[in-house]
Amino acid sequence: MALDRYGRDIHYLRISLTDHCNLRCVYCMPEDMTFQPNAELMQDDELILLVRLFASLGFDKIRLTGGEPTVRGHIVDIVREIALTPGIRSLSMTTNGVLLPKLAQPLAQAGLKRVNISIDTLNPEKFRRLTRWGSLEDVWQGILAAEEAGLTPIKLNAVVVRGYNERDVIDLARLTIERPWQVRFIEMMPFAGATDLQLNQAVTTEQIMEHIEAELGPLHTANGGELDGEARVFQLDGSLGTVGFISTVTQPFCASCTRARLTADGRLRLCLLREGEVDLLTPLRGGASLSDLRQLILDGIWYKPWGHGLAEGLIPLNRVMNQIGG
Ligand code: 5AD
Ligand code: SF4
Repeated sequence: MALDRYGRDIHYLRISLTDHCNLRCVYCMPEDMTFQPNAELMQDDELILLVRLFASLGFDKIRLTGGEPTVRGHIVDIVREIALTPGIRSLSMTTNGVLLPKLAQPLAQAGLKRVNISIDTLNPEKFRRLTRWGSLEDVWQGILAAEEAGLTPIKLNAVVVRGYNERDVIDLARLTIERPWQVRFIEMMPFAGATDLQLNQAVTTEQIMEHIEAELGPLHTANGGELDGEARVFQLDGSLGTVGFISTVTQPFCASCTRARLTADGRLRLCLLREGEVDLLTPLRGGASLSDLRQLILDGIWYKPWGHGLAEGLIPLNRVMNQIGG
């Protein structure tokens, strides 16, 4: 078991498989983003070795992220290897959904359990503007393909940006009335790369809830008031699905955090919103033994920061979101 010095049992690893993406969401990265050369990223065998090591330390839950995880080469094989790793009980992915029409079925067969799909609006023009060139129809087909392949329960993620989609939360929330999906609204967080927009155009959970309730009626507490992962969940009257809020900025959930991250270039990142990282890939390539690597991980986790420092104005600037994984 990997414990931090505050007694939190860290057993959930979010792995960024690549910093590359087939979209360019305005809140995530600049349009002319330069990506890291492939040689700097964990290769398949390095990734699998690290996954086994984390599993041996008690990590039982893995989420694959990016960038966009589905653009990584051999993604189906990687999923299969991870799913077969002893100790891994839960394997899911956060994706923009664009490639799911083709990949949902093979990924499910390889052992992927669930997907979270990012969709910030149901309006095709606004979707294009937010993603800079994405097609809403592709993502919609991706969602349906994921459902068909049994990658359920489907969770949809929307980041809310003033001036782009703050009114679109109503249509997104309305989806939950007739579909058993969880639509989650994420408060935009500040990182390097698009900091002006992130700081000036963020919308709080409270504001999002107001928009939804004014139009669709009251949101009732669901899940017995317990967090579902990082989301607080609610239900509209008579709905099949749920509406979730991930209020990282206004209501941090750091006290119950059980996660660590592995960046695409093989650094253990202890908190999404703190710059501190432990390089695992360089020692691995330099011939470090498994027990050396194991110690690096345990030491890193021990010093996991208590929480983020957004309230004190501390913004992590060493990486853009797509390099860390959402
Ligand atoms: N703040 C909050 N969420 C973000 N994401 C990307 N950038 C940000 C940001 N600045 C989300 C994406 C996706 C996940 C990978 O991270 O919308 O749901
Ligand atoms: Fe790509 Fe996701 Fe970033 Fe959008 S938020 S550019 S889909 S990595």
